[in-house]
Amino acid sequence: MAIEIRCDSVWAGADLVTMRDGHYNLIEDGAIAVRQGKIVWIGPRAESIAIQADEYTDFGGGIITPGLVDCHTHLVFGGDRSHEFEQRLKGVSYAEIAAQGGGIISTVRATRAASLDQLVSSARWRADRLLAEGVTTLEIKSGYGLDEDSEIKMLQAIRLLAQQIPADVRATCLAAHAIPPEFKHHPDGWIDTICTTLLPKVKAENLADAVDAFCEHLAFSPAQVERLFTCAQALGFPVKLHAEQLSSLGGGALAARFNALSADHLEYAAESDVQAMAEHGTVAVLLPGAFYLLRETQLPPIDLFRRYNVPMALASDANPGTSPALSLRLILNMACTLFRFTPEEALAGVTLYGAKALGLAQSHGSLETGKVANFVHWPLARPAELVYWLGGQLPCDVIYRGEKQ
Ligand code: NIG
Ligand code: FE
Repeated sequence: MAIEIRCDSVWAGADLVTMRDGHYNLIEDGAIAVRQGKIVWIGPRAESIAIQADEYTDFGGGIITPGLVDCHTHLVFGGDRSHEFEQRLKGVSYAEIAAQGGGIISTVRATRAASLDQLVSSARWRADRLLAEGVTTLEIKSGYGLDEDSEIKMLQAIRLLAQQIPADVRATCLAAHAIPPEFKHHPDGWIDTICTTLLPKVKAENLADAVDAFCEHLAFSPAQVERLFTCAQALGFPVKLHAEQLSSLGGGALAARFNALSADHLEYAAESDVQAMAEHGTVAVLLPGAFYLLRETQLPPIDLFRRYNVPMALASDANPGTSPALSLRLILNMACTLFRFTPEEALAGVTLYGAKALGLAQSHGSLETGKVANFVHWPLARPAELVYWLGGQLPCDVIYRGEKQ
């Protein structure tokens, strides 16, 4: 029976890849009704006749997916690190480069030297590349300032960029990304500063939506991360963690104990990490771009994540060092070829589970009544094509908050 609905716009004539419950859950020849930027009805077009809309778009074929979610990026930074890319190809390791004062710290120098406007405009072209491929939700981390003023500058740049682009942007404070040169001999001092001065200020000015850290031998120990997370949670921040990227330190389990939204990277995660993440609903964010660029050989324990039903998200990790990625679709392809994801798992990783990794699964990441009207029309026959084409740019129409971009 047809239901009487009034709305602003209807988008119809394509197969809807709803990604409800993390599966394609396809609605053939569907229609989506939108009012005030939200989905108010979705179903087969044949059942939508009683919908009254001011605007009606008939795509005449193709598929519609949820807007893509890139839940882990470091898009705001100064300079680039193509010279280190060359060094690594000559056999110098990521850890050796970091120990020589390069790596993250070389981006810190360039980021401290950049003005707020320069940070926004250099991030803008990279964000535009991701958005052109259907990204409508984007997380961006600080972490290349590593002093109070520069971390604040980065977070302000993220908030400013968010006002300029048609995407829902979440800002994450990653002040514990690397040991600042000034705290080389007493990294605990930087954790103290973050806890006592930086985070309270970030909270007061609403500059971040979550707090992240890098738990690794060349960054912060589990004990330091634990101290940081305790402060962050006391201030009301959800937490996430760069964990088990280069070695196994129990970071996944540590993050889970703090009910982290996600633990990210995870190549070296152990079964105990996976089990703890399953118990606490912590999403595994996998980053095949960094795996590829570092020519890592240790695969993340994908089968364990499947067995324990830990949702797996995928993200670009766009950053100047380990993943200068400008294409989330390329990341989808890498997840399938390198990590043996199925195309359906890959798409779930940049829709529903990407949203979950940001605490946004109630409102984003799938085509369902009540969720934001962020979706993408692709003139493709089936969703696997999104993963299959290697590079290049696929034509698409992006609808953000019910408006065609
Ligand atoms: O997610 N693992 C640490 N952080 C980044 C790398 C940052 C950099 O090298 O600049 C990552 O891979
Ligand atoms: Fe990262």
